Amino acid sequence: MNEQILKALDWRYATKVFDANKKINEKDLNVLKESLRLAPSSYGLQPWKFIIVENPEVRTQLREFSWNQTQVTDASHYIVFTALKTMDESYVQKYIEDIANTRNLPVEGLKGFKDMMVANIVNGGQKQDISAWAQRQSYIAMGELVLAAALLGIDTCCLEGLSPADYDRILGLDNSQYATIAAVAVGYRAADDKYQDLKKVRFSEDEVFQTI
Ligand SMILES: Cc1cc2nc3c(=O)[nH]c(=O)nc-3n(C[C@H](O)[C@H](O)[C@H](O)COP(=O)(O)O)c2cc1C
Repeated sequence: MNEQILKALDWRYATKVFDANKKINEKDLNVLKESLRLAPSSYGLQPWKFIIVENPEVRTQLREFSWNQTQVTDASHYIVFTALKTMDESYVQKYIEDIANTRNLPVEGLKGFKDMMVANIVNGGQKQDISAWAQRQSYIAMGELVLAAALLGIDTCCLEGLSPADYDRILGLDNSQYATIAAVAVGYRAADDKYQDLKKVRFSEDEVFQTI
């Protein structure tokens, strides 16, 4: 397993050219979706929505606002990461009800937990920037997706090179609770993508770790 993980991490690279003819099968796609759905988040509040853009015309429109990066149209799947812009008490209440239903617990027993989330997130220090907080959570899910894909031999490219405002307009998010933050193109590398042969550039262990 150790070797398998290291091999996948080394094999993965930010794919620039996808093979537009290779599609991810449904079974693998479901695993990738679960890697997003099961991602951890602060308090478990899951302040995200992942939009899987299948419509080729929409993907062509999005590409125009993504520095014309070919991954947007050519990858098998294109997943736009969005995060909550605000959070109110009713969102927390719905989550509490989900916990109660899932774990067969009385809602009243979760009052302390709810009050803590409302105090800390809805009314607390992080309230000033719910959006930034929600974005941080969404990036954790992005990491899980990228790793899960690599373990399955599926390529990815994370994309921040896009215009979130234009994505929001094209995806009809302007009047929603969610805003675009980034995207991940998922599929299979083209045989002639020269980036797959480049050595990884990473700071040394000494530079990135400190043991105290
Ligand atoms: C959040 C995020 C956004 C990125 N945005 C882009 C992008 O818009 N276009 C692109 O080609 N690569 C993008 N990358 C890929 C990085 O440039 C790449 O991961 C980094 O150079 C390390 O190379 P490697 O992933 O091939 O090991 C992004 C990566 C991350 C994590």
